[in-house]
Amino acid sequence: MKINGRDYRALWIEKNSVKFIDQRKLPYSFKIFTAKNVDEVAFAIKDMVVRGAPAIGAAAAYGMALEKDVKKSAEKLRATRPTAYDLFYAIDYMIDKIDCGENGFDAAREYVEDIIERCKKIGENGEKLIKDGMKILTHCNAGALATVDYGTALAPFRLAHGNGKKFFVYVDETRPRLQGLLTAWELKHEGIKHAVIADNAAGYFMKNNEVDMVITGADRIAKNGDFANKIGTYEKAVLARENDIPFYVAAPISTFDNKIKDGSCIIIEEREKSELSEINGKTIMPEWTAVRNPAFDVTTVDYVTCYITEEGIIKK
Ligand code: MRU
Repeated sequence: MKINGRDYRALWIEKNSVKFIDQRKLPYSFKIFTAKNVDEVAFAIKDMVVRGAPAIGAAAAYGMALEKDVKKSAEKLRATRPTAYDLFYAIDYMIDKIDCGENGFDAAREYVEDIIERCKKIGENGEKLIKDGMKILTHCNAGALATVDYGTALAPFRLAHGNGKKFFVYVDETRPRLQGLLTAWELKHEGIKHAVIADNAAGYFMKNNEVDMVITGADRIAKNGDFANKIGTYEKAVLARENDIPFYVAAPISTFDNKIKDGSCIIIEEREKSELSEINGKTIMPEWTAVRNPAFDVTTVDYVTCYITEEGIIKK
């Protein structure tokens, strides 16, 4: 992605450390976070310096390259966030490569280049669905920030825009972490027309024929096609079906977990109370307020029109 005239990836390796665009600070300030060892990479994943399934996978691959003790590193990284399959896919990939004698840095670089290429292909395949004049809704941030580059759900937008298509994107705000602002930040830098909407406004726009299509990313897709994604995705899928709007899910191979039969097997991360009870460090709820904060939900396959993958558009 181009930021202030310079090409950036969400994360990269530099002089034996991993550099991240610090997503906790966006869109207000553009800061780089440096992790010098696997513990700091694990912190970056857990604290959401880096986030989004493929980007977490890439961070884990780089994190594994930084250390000699592969088993220990894998253990630390596996304990960071439970839902996104890419994390576990990347760790297993690195273990296999290092066991076969490959240099960790080379293996991590190959992993990251491959993911970027896959996301670009998702963009090329998904771009075909976008027609002039369309209004498209997306949830959370499944852009370059979430995948190293291009994105999954946002990759078709980038390619369609590059091909001169005119369309408009509704961006769900995505409480509590406001990943919608990251999406707006990316779309602004790419010059794609968009508006952020409150999460609970999606039904209003769908009902008023203002949404022609929904595209989201995914964190883990089970063998039968059920998938986990950012909390609120399920609601959007139900609303889309109610309003006869096609609902697409964009994801690379690293998000497909064929070891689990359906969505009921997906572990849903619950995050801390402060994500809801504070905004920018300022408390917005009385101390005694009880809070539940699941970070993801599961949508069953029957709500999905098609999956947009690097291999093509797959019918459910
Ligand atoms: O908690 P996050 O911000 O890591 O959740 C991210 C999402 O849910 C994305 O939609 C998903 O990872 C796909 S990113 C290409």
